[in-house]
Amino acid sequence: MRLSQLVVQCADLLQSSEVALGQGTLEMADEAAWLVLWRLGLPLDTDTDAFTPVLQAYDVQACFDLIAQRIQRRVPAAYLTREAWLQGVDFYVDERCIVPRSLIAEVLARQSLDLFVTRSPLRILDLCTGNGSLAVLAAMTYPDAHIDASDISADALAVAKINGQRHGLSDRIAWHCLDGLQAPLGRYDLILCNPPYVNELSLANLPPEFMAEPRLALAGGSDGMDFVRPLILRAAEHLHEDGILILEIGHERAHFEAAFPKLSSLGLSTSAGDDQVRLIHQVELRALTC
Ligand SMILES: C[S@@+](CC[C@H](N)C(=O)[O-])C[C@H]1O[C@@H](n2cnc3c(N)ncnc32)[C@H](O)[C@@H]1O
Repeated sequence: MRLSQLVVQCADLLQSSEVALGQGTLEMADEAAWLVLWRLGLPLDTDTDAFTPVLQAYDVQACFDLIAQRIQRRVPAAYLTREAWLQGVDFYVDERCIVPRSLIAEVLARQSLDLFVTRSPLRILDLCTGNGSLAVLAAMTYPDAHIDASDISADALAVAKINGQRHGLSDRIAWHCLDGLQAPLGRYDLILCNPPYVNELSLANLPPEFMAEPRLALAGGSDGMDFVRPLILRAAEHLHEDGILILEIGHERAHFEAAFPKLSSLGLSTSAGDDQVRLIHQVELRALTC
């Protein structure tokens, strides 16, 4: 069998199953290609149509076995491969953290923030760092910056440290096990935060793949704002006067605006639309608490 045929057959198997996507891929063909190429030890950017060697029967079987695991166990592909990619950068992943997919990564890659900062940020906080992907991408985007990255989960931080080491950034990222903004780490030019923001109703209806991720990483309480509410009230004191907070809120815009009717925030453009990542200036946060 040829590689392209194998990928099509695997995609068909996924399509006729109940698997849910959204943790790295959005199409069954991409999910199938990811798992097949990983299983065969081929680069993920391999052109499957142009790959001509005929595959060995045991390689084909190994790929079908992996697809069967994906279908039967209903866990994210990244928990099977122990690897995920964000903006072309590879991250180690396991069940101790969610699969990296933050839209803030797009904002960093497009350098969209350059329009809103007067100078390149030198102190950055990645709050709720999880697997450390945003801390790593921020360090790559801003080579002169020092990054603090914090999470309440020691398990997630253990994964984050692996990713810091993997990318040779251990001397530029400091990892902290902290609850929200409870402990003072100083003031920042930029705070990035992809918090747990899934509201109770949405959480109850998540497919098994998402339930396989740590609940702590997703659950945001009845309106999704349990973590965000104290963050918005405290963030000003952790930002320089010209600092900004970049906050991911996913599909929770209505709940966010209901929680903070007087807060002025700007929606940043991402592949998921213009309202899932908010940019908030320190001055707006401060005004809220005065
Ligand atoms: C949606 S995940 C984001 C992970 C990572 N930043 C990303 O984008 O893939 C949210 C993270 O917040 C962490 N978290 C939950 N409650 C927290 C709290 N009170 N203080 C700090 N971190 C918290 C979870 O452990 C989880 O790693």
